[in-house]
Amino acid sequence: MLISNISAKVIANWLFSFGYLPMTNTICASNSPQRWQTLWLNVNLVTMIETEDDYGAVKEAALAISDGKIVWLGKEVDLPTYNKDTLEVLDGQGRWLTPGLIDCHTHLVYGGNRANEFEMRLQGKSYQEIAEAGGGIVSTVKATREATAAELLKSSLPRLTALHQQGVTTVEIKSGYGLDLTNEIKMLEVAGELAKQLPVTVKRTFLGAHALPIEYKDDPDGYIALVCDEIMPVIVKQKLADTVDVFCENIGFDIKQTERVFIAAKKHGLAIKAHAEQLSDLGGTELAAKYQALSSDHVEFLSEQGIKAMSAANMTAVLLPGAFYFLRETQHPPIELLRKHGVDMAIATDVNPGSSPICSIQLMLNMACTLFRLTPNEALAGVTRNAAKALGLSSSKGQLAVGFDADIAVWNISQPAELCYQFGVNPLSALIQDGRQVI
Ligand code: NIG
Ligand code: FE
Repeated sequence: MLISNISAKVIANWLFSFGYLPMTNTICASNSPQRWQTLWLNVNLVTMIETEDDYGAVKEAALAISDGKIVWLGKEVDLPTYNKDTLEVLDGQGRWLTPGLIDCHTHLVYGGNRANEFEMRLQGKSYQEIAEAGGGIVSTVKATREATAAELLKSSLPRLTALHQQGVTTVEIKSGYGLDLTNEIKMLEVAGELAKQLPVTVKRTFLGAHALPIEYKDDPDGYIALVCDEIMPVIVKQKLADTVDVFCENIGFDIKQTERVFIAAKKHGLAIKAHAEQLSDLGGTELAAKYQALSSDHVEFLSEQGIKAMSAANMTAVLLPGAFYFLRETQHPPIELLRKHGVDMAIATDVNPGSSPICSIQLMLNMACTLFRLTPNEALAGVTRNAAKALGLSSSKGQLAVGFDADIAVWNISQPAELCYQFGVNPLSALIQDGRQVI
């Protein structure tokens, strides 16, 4: 690759990673081989440090970890002298290391399931028709309200376990099936509890504006007032979420209602994201850009104007191929235009009972390529670097780089594209979370 193709940021990142740039005192201290705790030898790295097309790959590499952080990585021949008796040395046997995968959009805490609606759809009813007839999200709200926290935990744990076993070290979990104070809190507390049960980082998002609960069926503005004035302040006070999401859609909330939620979120210092342009183009993404949202998610119906707004606000487009597939959508997200305007693309499962009951990040990698025609490099960036960006975690997760969290997946593959190419045989060989081997 020509040096002119690489941005200054990329060069700085590489120089920093390989020890040619000055580092902060803390990193310098732990970077000395005397302080290393674990050293992987004989590995290949998919760093996902932003280069144009080669996964930021480093072959015949080594990687050192200390205090939960990556402290050295590079060609094995360039390793500084270290004392093998003072640290754990592991032979990677030529395996590939990627950043731990990040699923940046899920609704994996919910009660019941919607297999009956799946059958209805197979008989010809659409997702929208089912929602308008009182099914859809609202039927999961009923089941979620009826479930105890312990029951929700029990039903969610296998879903998170499935993601974890496929290499996921960070997951975002949204509320949005409670739709009242007690039940939104219950969902977010269960999401917090999941992070205690499994070695996975859980980032929680308040999605009170997901659907209109039955008791507010004729008063959407009254419900938005409840979300903004009653529920959100408690969520903030109890630190149950740091991001707010809205389903901006004709079966969700309109632009004015969405804006009210964004204004309230900003007032509380919360980050913002949106489910927008999934089934129609209401302009939710442009609105989200106006409020410096982290991401707009789904975006099948996004216009070029919306894409320009995303680009100007440095937002990430979160693509959800599972929902596209499961709802048998035909409108593809505008991938070429997103590329043209330099909008970063993330990929996520959108695990939920209605539009994507699919707990597989590996299948999303495959679908991102087969259904949306992403390159494997783009797909992998979508579940690492760009997924971290969609969660506001760009400086600590999603790349193998010095100073980043040592969240690392170890794969039994012979080239990175295999992670997108083959599906059904799990190539995960080990998983490291915060420097600790957890699988
Ligand atoms: O991301 N679009 C809105 N929310 C979910 C679906 C939720 C459901 O159907 O239960 C989604 O597709
Ligand atoms: Fe969603």
